[in-house]
Amino acid sequence: MICCKQEIVLTEKTIVLTGATSGIGFASAKKFASNGAYVIGVGRSEMRNQNAQQAIQNEFPMAHVDYLFADLASQDQVKKLAENINVLLQGHEINAVDVLVNNAGIYLEKKQTTKDGIEQTFAVNHLASFLLSHELMPLLQASNQGRIITVSSYAHRNTPLMVNRLDNPWPYIGLLAYKRSKLSNILFSYEFNRRYDNKVTAIALDPGLVDTSIASKGSDGISDWVWRLRRKDGESPDIPAEAINYLAGVENVNTSHGYFYRNCEPEIPSINARKKDLAEKLWQRSCELTNINW
Ligand SMILES: NC(=O)c1ccc[n+]([C@@H]2O[C@H](COP(=O)([O-])OP(=O)(O)OC[C@H]3O[C@@H](n4cnc5c(N)ncnc54)[C@H](OP(=O)(O)O)[C@@H]3O)[C@@H](O)[C@H]2O)c1
Repeated sequence: MICCKQEIVLTEKTIVLTGATSGIGFASAKKFASNGAYVIGVGRSEMRNQNAQQAIQNEFPMAHVDYLFADLASQDQVKKLAENINVLLQGHEINAVDVLVNNAGIYLEKKQTTKDGIEQTFAVNHLASFLLSHELMPLLQASNQGRIITVSSYAHRNTPLMVNRLDNPWPYIGLLAYKRSKLSNILFSYEFNRRYDNKVTAIALDPGLVDTSIASKGSDGISDWVWRLRRKDGESPDIPAEAINYLAGVENVNTSHGYFYRNCEPEIPSINARKKDLAEKLWQRSCELTNINW
């Protein structure tokens, strides 16, 4: 049973949330909007963006919500997204992003490569979060209490990581690529907090097993079949949305155990996830692959 019972008020908070068109992201967008935040949802389909925005507006007529288009598999589009967020905020005379939720994620049974030449699971699940966090740093630092919440997974456990082969793994195994990307989410969060003072805090979250379509979108074969059986045991996306809402709004996040949460409770991630040298190497490699100096 998760313990997110503390009342969270998000009025005055501006929240950017990727993957806001379905599953955990859509449930979180609704939760944020119902709690008074200004929500900027990000999705890769104009049509699904419109539908999601409309659905939220219908359910919560007072909601303040915008959606922006970006295919996070493209680094150009991640950078363009950050520019569009800046423009949108200027229009509203808002000068800070309080919370960035890196939630968008994929599972691909067969290897696909982005136009930047990078294996797509790693590109979307880790590099896009890394790059977007970098691009939004000035806005996050302008907040009194900036937060970066990255949706990771229990799947990060028992996963070896060869940093130099992440962008082009061979042989490709979908589950391993997914596990490595989720381990990268935690390594990123730990390394971020080592590099920055606590004005902006990064937290990685395991949402548990959740009943969404994630693995069916990237497979029409065995993974789809397995996932359709497995998701039946999953929780409603409203459960992790509650946890993301808590981490976004709670005044002081308890980081005495580290920067990993299983829903609203702090948890110790795997040994690999806590390795400083591995996190540093991943950070360097992520800079090389996104052509940034961070
Ligand atoms: N479900 C679980 O049991 C579970 C467990 C642990 C962790 N997670 C993590 O939870 C997060 C959310 O997953 P979910 O289960 O809610 O799955 P989901 O319903 O498929 O949601 C994924 C979201 O990411 C978006 N997305 C995918 N690729 C994108 C791209 N290239 N550019 C922009 N947006 C993109 C999807 O857009 P579309 O609507 O267009 O597809 C969707 O909004 C993921 O990071 C996943 O790894 C899930």
